[in-house]
Amino acid sequence: MRSLISILDLSVEELDELIGVANDIIDNPAKYSEICRGKKLATLFFEPSTRTRLSFEAAMYELGGNVLSVTGAGSSSAAKGESVADTAKTVSCYADIIAMRHSKEGAPLVASMNATIPVINAGDGGHNHPTQTLADLLTIRREKGRLDNLTIGLCGDLKFGRTVHSLIEAMARYTGVKFVLISPEELKLPSYVKSIIKEKNIPYVQTTDLEAAMPDLDILYMTRVQRERFFNEEDYLRLKDSYILTPDKLNNAKADLCIMHPLPRVNEISVAIDNDPRAAYFKQVLNGKYMRMALICKLLEVL
Ligand code: NCD
Repeated sequence: MRSLISILDLSVEELDELIGVANDIIDNPAKYSEICRGKKLATLFFEPSTRTRLSFEAAMYELGGNVLSVTGAGSSSAAKGESVADTAKTVSCYADIIAMRHSKEGAPLVASMNATIPVINAGDGGHNHPTQTLADLLTIRREKGRLDNLTIGLCGDLKFGRTVHSLIEAMARYTGVKFVLISPEELKLPSYVKSIIKEKNIPYVQTTDLEAAMPDLDILYMTRVQRERFFNEEDYLRLKDSYILTPDKLNNAKADLCIMHPLPRVNEISVAIDNDPRAAYFKQVLNGKYMRMALICKLLEVL
């Protein structure tokens, strides 16, 4: 029985296999529409979510399976003081697979150590978000045709942005990748993620200047400043609009730039960019559902 806690739990070959399955699901959805018949996914979301929870649930329905759902820490026994370990043991009696989001870093790992069914990390605090990375990888592959030889700009809250951490872990395994880390001083990439880049001798640039970095980028991954992880509101208000992508800022961008964002956006990308052919963030949403379908099939060993 396998869980997905970090994107590194999947080898590059397995990522390739999941991308292949997702592409096949896109082309032949009927082939998969009964594959999880009789199986139940439990979504345990102790932090806000729209896309991730609904895409997991839509994924399971499109595989012919069923869904059990807990939303919000306040409505479950977590509010009574139940431990993550006990919750995991309990839900193992009802479901075949768990997707868990939690504000505490490491909570899904603890759940996986106590569950008797696979656990998927659907976001743990400011740490990791491996299934967003699956969505990102499929998007990059479909939009750019490759996962290697890319210059990837990551912009915004690189400190608390868990999607950025998991994406860097994943992309650092492909050859010819270069990272451009664009953030305010206070929101720079944590050292444990930066050390991955350094250990592999991957070229990287750290800057505060998005426009100066723009001409080199093949991918621009914008992120929201993570208000819920700040210790005080003043710092958040000062930093929240550090980067706002508007059409004029794309003047010196590549014609085939791929603009991504895990969403939700607050102010980071002007809606005027939504119809630009380079905007890929709503495709990313759809790709996330297909990759979660592929992942559920893999972890339930139904393929
Ligand atoms: C992200 C998250 O929850 O980390 N959202 C998502 O799952 N697509 C990004 C964010 O909340 O900013």
